[in-house]
Formats: sequence, C-alpha cells, structure tokens
Amino acid sequence: MQIVHTLSDLRQLLQAYRHPAVVPTMGNLHAGHLALVKTAKPLGDVTIATIFVNRLQFGPNEDFDTYPRTLEADCQRLQEAGCDIVFAPAEKDLYPVPQTFLVQPPAALANILEGHFRPGFFTGVATVVLKLLSCTQARSAVFGKKDYQQLMVIRHLVQQFALPVEIVGVDTCRSASGLALSSRNGYLNPEQLERAAQLSQTLRSFAAGLRADPSRLAELERQALDTLTQAGWKPDYITARRQSDLQEPQAGDALVLLAAARLDGTRLIDNLEV
Ligand code: PAF
Repeated sequence: MQIVHTLSDLRQLLQAYRHPAVVPTMGNLHAGHLALVKTAKPLGDVTIATIFVNRLQFGPNEDFDTYPRTLEADCQRLQEAGCDIVFAPAEKDLYPVPQTFLVQPPAALANILEGHFRPGFFTGVATVVLKLLSCTQARSAVFGKKDYQQLMVIRHLVQQFALPVEIVGVDTCRSASGLALSSRNGYLNPEQLERAAQLSQTLRSFAAGLRADPSRLAELERQALDTLTQAGWKPDYITARRQSDLQEPQAGDALVLLAAARLDGTRLIDNLEV
C-alpha cells in the first residue's frame, strides 16, 4: 500500500490505472469504514482511501480541532483491508489557496434535517467530495448509508455535474447492541456506549409501530422523541421522511426514519429504512 500526501504524487501513481474505486473518509477508521473498502475493492483496478478532516464541513462550535487524527493506525487497518493507495493530504495540499468556489446543494435537500442543525455542512461536504473525486479520478466511490442525507446529496452532486463516477451506498455496520458504528462513538465512555444503543432501539420501535399501523405516524414520532428525551438525550430530530427525497411523506411512500440526538454532549445520528 502506498501513502501519498500531495496531489502531484497521487497523479503520478494514478497513471497506471483506469478505474479507481475510492472510499472518502475523515480517518479514525472503524469496522464500518473497512466494510466500505471491502465493497470498493472489486469495483475498480485500484482501491484508494482518502483521509482528510475537512474544515469546511465543521461549524464554528463543532469538533474540528478535537476530531481524532489517527493516521498511523488508520493506514495499518487499511493495509490489512487490502487498500492500495491512501491519499492523506494536509490542509495546505487540498486547499493550497482558500477554497472560494463552493458547491451549494439545493436548500430543499441540504437545509433540512442535518443541514438545518448544521448550517453549511452539506456545502462543505459537497465541495470536498467533488474535489476528492476529481483528485482521485474516481470511477466508483463508496459511502456509508449511516450518513443517509449525505449520500443523497452526493448522488445528486454526481448527477448534476455529470461526473463519470458510480456512487455505491453500503449498509450501516452496527455493534452487537445495535449501535451504529461511528468515529464519534470514541467520545463515549463505557456507560455512555451502553446507553447509546437507545438511539437505534428507538428507531426500531418507531419502525415496528409504523409497520403495524402507518396512520399513527405523527403519534409515533412524538413518542420516539419523548422516549429519547426521557432517557436523558437531547434530540435534534427523530422523524419519518420519504426515502426518495427526504421530504414529508405521503401515504404509501417508502419511508426512512432519521434521528440525530446528543448523549451528554456527543451528537450521534442514525437511520432506518422502513
Ligand atoms: O462521511 C465522511 O466521513 C465525510 O463527510 C466525507 C464524505 C469523507 C467528506 O469529508
């Protein structure tokens, strides 16, 4: 496996390949990321993981400075997973001059849910993903479904800019308790880790209620919010949306349940397709 930090070194390496399959990450890798690499491997003739903590997608009061940077351990895990190239640019390599051209996803998709609570988040994500897909000359790119809205924004980005890349979504990896794997789980102590499973449990009860009686959607949504609040969480949202565009659902729509909530200050997200 080769580890490169600059765009010119990456371009040099890429001359030998026709179909890079890329897994963009912010590092601090866990089994969920390695599942993305496993999915990427058969899709191309070279598998690239990018590791870059992207300042543009963090709000002023978010955890950009404290976000764990664990390059050595990440590279070890990527090598074991069969990754061929790691592209881990420093900020000055990816943004040598201030990034004044930004990709602004449409408000209807990017200012709801995560985008409502994290203004500018999807502009930061769309901008860096466009840049990483371009730097890596990706022909396939793999993302986790845990970031459901992010995946949708990226699919639209690729379609709108006619990028020659196939976007592949991979199911969320979970611990035995049902907790969705996330780099931010690392902020939790053992007791909080146990409680964190309440987020996916609440989504599962919400889904079971909906399957039994879809007409109770509004009541079930309130119940889910109450369950989390009473268990000591501070939910930003827990809601049912239409799978196709994340808008308010109509009767008969395929649904996805999405949640974001803070557990003692750590913000976790999860979702479940119904
Ligand atoms: O999901 C992530 O880790 C990040 O949002 C991504 C897609 C790598 C862009 O920085």
